[in-house]
Amino acid sequence: MIRLQKFLADAGVSSRRKCEELILQGRVQVDGKTVTEPGTKVEGSEYIRVDGKVVRPGREKIYILLNKPAGCISSVKDQFSRKTVIDLVSGIRERIYPVGRLDYDTSGLIILTNDGEFANMLMHPRHEAEKVYKAEIKGRLSAGDIGRLRSGVDIGNHITAPAHVKVINESAQRSVVEIRIHEGRNRQVRKMFEAVGHPVMRLERTAIGGITADGLEEGKWRHLTEEEINMLRTKYGDF
Ligand code: URA
Repeated sequence: MIRLQKFLADAGVSSRRKCEELILQGRVQVDGKTVTEPGTKVEGSEYIRVDGKVVRPGREKIYILLNKPAGCISSVKDQFSRKTVIDLVSGIRERIYPVGRLDYDTSGLIILTNDGEFANMLMHPRHEAEKVYKAEIKGRLSAGDIGRLRSGVDIGNHITAPAHVKVINESAQRSVVEIRIHEGRNRQVRKMFEAVGHPVMRLERTAIGGITADGLEEGKWRHLTEEEINMLRTKYGDF
């Protein structure tokens, strides 16, 4: 059951607030009866009309933040029947899909949605959302390696755009490095560190467009809040 104004807004009638007004103005009928109480719950299977015109149910927009564990594939289906990110999100009836991808071995944040426009907005090459990764790498980066990562390295068929690089801790055997990029090429972070001679041993995405896990455990998910969705739209939607 959902609130009548939400049903109308999801169906594309207008904003939720405007739909509340339509209800208060007595312009909405549910199964032939005028309803003037905005909080009224409906199944969605009723015969709902606004100003006499039938309203067809729209798809509810879903925005989910998942903290993906390693050992799980970031697509909707896997040809080898491995566990997918969709298997980790239960109770969602809408068909959702991941925005971009994370490698099978990479853990961390990934957004799932059924809103194609929103997904395109976050992945648009001109203003792709910033992603932050924590990489555990072999060995210690030299000042030269850091300079190369920052200014751009050749990862085969592409020179990477400037990146922010910060060493969190280091030893001769292994270091932990935070890297911030706006691109999302296949295995990009792994290839970047390989290009400077320090292969990645573990990789985790810790933020997307300023959104962090903030207590969300690995393997768990939550809905993005209205504020987070609006924040992403404000940052990346105005191009
Ligand atoms: N870069 C990688 O190498 N792997 C990921 O999963 C994401 C970014």
